Amino acid sequence: MAFARTCSVALVGVDGVIVEVQADLEPGVAAFALVGLPDKALSEARDRVRAAVVNSGEAWPQRKLTVGLSPASVPKSGSGFDLAVACAVLAAAERLDPSSIAELLIIGELGLDGRVRPVRGVLPSVLAAADAGYQRVVVAEQTAPEASLVPGVTVIGVRSLRQLVAVLTGASAPEEPPDPIAGRPDPLMAGLMLPSAGVRGLVDDKAARLDLADVAGQYEARRALEIAAAGGHHLYLKGPPGAGKTMLAERLPSLLPPLTQKEALEVTAVHSVAGLLPVGRPLIDTAPYCAPHHSTTMPAIVGGGSGLPRPGAVSLAHRGVLFLDEAPEFPVRVLDSLRQPLESGEVVIARSAGSLRLPARFLLCLAANPCPCGRHSRRGEGCECSPAMVSRYQGRLSGPLLDRVDLQVQVAPVTRIELMERDTTAENTETVAARVLAARERAAARLATTPWRTNAEVPGHELRTRWQLAPGALNDVARQLERGLLTARGLDRVLRVAWTVADLAGRDRPDQRDVRTALVLRTGVEQGLPLAERVYGRLGGIPAQRVGPVDEPPEGQSRSGRFEKPDCPDPESPGPPDRPDALGRSTRSGSAKRSGKRDQHRADEGGEA
Ligand SMILES: Nc1ncnc2c1ncn2[C@@H]1O[C@H](COP(=O)(O)OP(=O)(O)OP(=O)(O)O)[C@@H](O)[C@H]1O
Ligand SMILES: [Mg+2]
Repeated sequence: MAFARTCSVALVGVDGVIVEVQADLEPGVAAFALVGLPDKALSEARDRVRAAVVNSGEAWPQRKLTVGLSPASVPKSGSGFDLAVACAVLAAAERLDPSSIAELLIIGELGLDGRVRPVRGVLPSVLAAADAGYQRVVVAEQTAPEASLVPGVTVIGVRSLRQLVAVLTGASAPEEPPDPIAGRPDPLMAGLMLPSAGVRGLVDDKAARLDLADVAGQYEARRALEIAAAGGHHLYLKGPPGAGKTMLAERLPSLLPPLTQKEALEVTAVHSVAGLLPVGRPLIDTAPYCAPHHSTTMPAIVGGGSGLPRPGAVSLAHRGVLFLDEAPEFPVRVLDSLRQPLESGEVVIARSAGSLRLPARFLLCLAANPCPCGRHSRRGEGCECSPAMVSRYQGRLSGPLLDRVDLQVQVAPVTRIELMERDTTAENTETVAARVLAARERAAARLATTPWRTNAEVPGHELRTRWQLAPGALNDVARQLERGLLTARGLDRVLRVAWTVADLAGRDRPDQRDVRTALVLRTGVEQGLPLAERVYGRLGGIPAQRVGPVDEPPEGQSRSGRFEKPDCPDPESPGPPDRPDALGRSTRSGSAKRSGKRDQHRADEGGEA
């Protein structure tokens, strides 16, 4: 019999499509034709496979050889079919028993010396194999741990074609050169570990070492981080250079709950296709963090490239955090390209051979200085930028993009005292992450009968009609709507955040202070500031007149709605008894008094919105 077949996998985005590899030998002049829509790298398989077979001590059949990859309509990229092609050829030449490879799924590139090299996307390939009912897969030894993540599949990891032939013929596997010395980069992984330009998929333990307790002060921003993590809300940190915006954003992934098994497989599949799986860590089970530089190209952000498409930053951040530092410096086209994944949780890349869908459900964190020189404030001191420059800089983040960002926070420069004094009350990541997890569970229980899992996903009209708020909760919102400070879409965002604030506080439904907190975080503007101040304040110079709310501020907040550092309990002081704040932390009423004074001072000098 001069015909044999086996199977391999073609990747379409992060989905695998089973491909049958058939080899046919006919009498005639020795030739090798490869058919079935191969790309350039795959066409070169002919030379690689021939050299690998010969260098593995096997005879190359001197007949007319045709290798077909079907279905022919699916475009096939890369070098992952080499090993399957070699096995099919050897079986057609009767060196292997065709039945020994007919039920196998084989993935791997061949070196000219016959060594088997790992390829990108082994996990999604093996997932597709398992779905199609394959029980045994052959992969390069280095990718065997990744392949064995898929339940119900037996993985055969091989180092060379000679080893595979020995396994299939029942001979003893030949010795191969030993593994590279531990800790040294494996030359076989060269090229696979290269991230796309400017994109860093943070999947090592660095995130776990960054602790929220390292951030001095910044109570409002820390609280916003917690709310963002609990509700899945996108976040915008605005402030002068060196205030700690990047520090804060880097600590966001570790506040997110650990990934479920399904999410971990999704995230690992994306990183596998990108060739970014760290050696020795086949499964990514914590939220990834991706922080592309603003010079990053469009394909590196959304994905693409020639050959086997690489997932971009939006997909590498899937189920984790996408951090755009110095956001206004990104090209407008790149920023606008985020709108589609923000809405749909996936990115669609159109190509001549058809469109690809890559998962892209991420938590967006933007950071920006107020102007190009970074020193702009309403008081205008020290800023070298003209009002037009400031306006142009801030305007680079388009309205439709910012409209999808629920939380906008001013990060004020950290004070000398906050920096120099060790703050023993600063909560660490573990404490905050535990609250985030509890809030997520509370939201998930409430949303159990719906298709949504986090508050950020719930559509506005559902939020307004399906769940009741506490009586009077919307008083402030009604005032803001009447005064034109809030749009209907803004209201939905406020409600979403208010539910998260309530979830964090362990309340069944949001009350007036939850909604007020959400309002401050939504607009980045203290309550009661008239629209004129927002407009003129942004363009610089005109001092603000506060039209303050008359209600007493809620506990844990100043009259302005800003968050204050929780007081340390002072054992010497007889003061008022502890009362828990919205998060159940210990506060004293003195905090509200002090913050009131501070806000008065800010208002006197034309305070910051
Ligand atoms: N709140 C803070 N607590 C402790 N250290 C801080 C804080 N803010 C800034 N720092 C110190 O300043 C350094 C710079 O902070 P970071 O890079 O986060 O600022 P940034 O706001 O992102 O600035 P830029 O706008 O220039 O990017 C940090 O590495 C840290 O050492
Ligand atoms: Mg920064």
